[in-house]
Amino acid sequence: MGRVEGKHVVITGAAQGIGLGCARVFAAEGARVGALDLKPPPDLGEQVVFHACDVRRREEVERALAASRARFGPIDCVLHVAGTAWHADLAHNTDADYDAMMDVHVRAAFHLLRGVVDEWKARGAGKFIGVTSPAAVRGQVNGTIYSAAKSALIGIVRSAALELAPHGIQVNAILPMAATPMTEIARVDPDINAKYLSRVPLGRWGEPDEIARVFLFLASSDADYITGVVLPVDGGRIL
Ligand SMILES: NC(=O)c1ccc[n+]([C@@H]2O[C@H](COP(=O)([O-])OP(=O)(O)OC[C@H]3O[C@@H](n4cnc5c(N)ncnc54)[C@H](O)[C@@H]3O)[C@@H](O)[C@H]2O)c1
Repeated sequence: MGRVEGKHVVITGAAQGIGLGCARVFAAEGARVGALDLKPPPDLGEQVVFHACDVRRREEVERALAASRARFGPIDCVLHVAGTAWHADLAHNTDADYDAMMDVHVRAAFHLLRGVVDEWKARGAGKFIGVTSPAAVRGQVNGTIYSAAKSALIGIVRSAALELAPHGIQVNAILPMAATPMTEIARVDPDINAKYLSRVPLGRWGEPDEIARVFLFLASSDADYITGVVLPVDGGRIL
């Protein structure tokens, strides 16, 4: 038996990076995965079904959740991993940049939670896991709106965890650091890479699959007594 055997897990951002690692690891542990992304993931077998979805748009999220339910039944767990990051100083961030950043990280979490909350309350169970960032707790030069979005996600996690705990629903977040397409821009330049890693006590980037295994822990019954946490999986970066 896998650790999430038979569970229906919806993963946003499943086409690459940490989300893809989650799709791979959860499928290997017996889950049936609804993979929501702008583009399809590589073929991971019939346990992983892609639904094209821009998570910023409520109607697209609702349509994708309905399609995933039609395929795999009631949803047990949602991992909101989709995200985007860019760096620009305050003077060069536009209102449109602000909206795009807040929408993919924060508004999407709101759409996803609202999309499952009635079902989960009726069942008295459900697990939502979001993703925040070292930028949310430490700040980041030229990362004001990214940092703001990831801080807001922490607010959602803590408040939703309190509100939904009486219904047996758990809401947590992971704070990762991993070698993914998103971080390639830092990793390809040896000087920038060395600067990043000088701030990571364990001295290396995490691999998407090792971040995914911590998602797996939070999604499994081993974590049934955990809610409202922001769990760093970052090699000690935020210390
Ligand atoms: N990699 C890191 O070190 C790191 C550190 C801190 C936080 N994070 C967060 O972890 C999450 C995953 O990061 P990653 O490094 O795997 O990123 P990534 O860029 O490699 O992958 C992100 C995925 O999200 C999808 N996506 C983007 N916008 C979308 C939208 N509107 N609708 C649907 N899908 C969309 C992309 O298509 C892509 O498949 C993000 O939320 C990111 O902010 C990553």
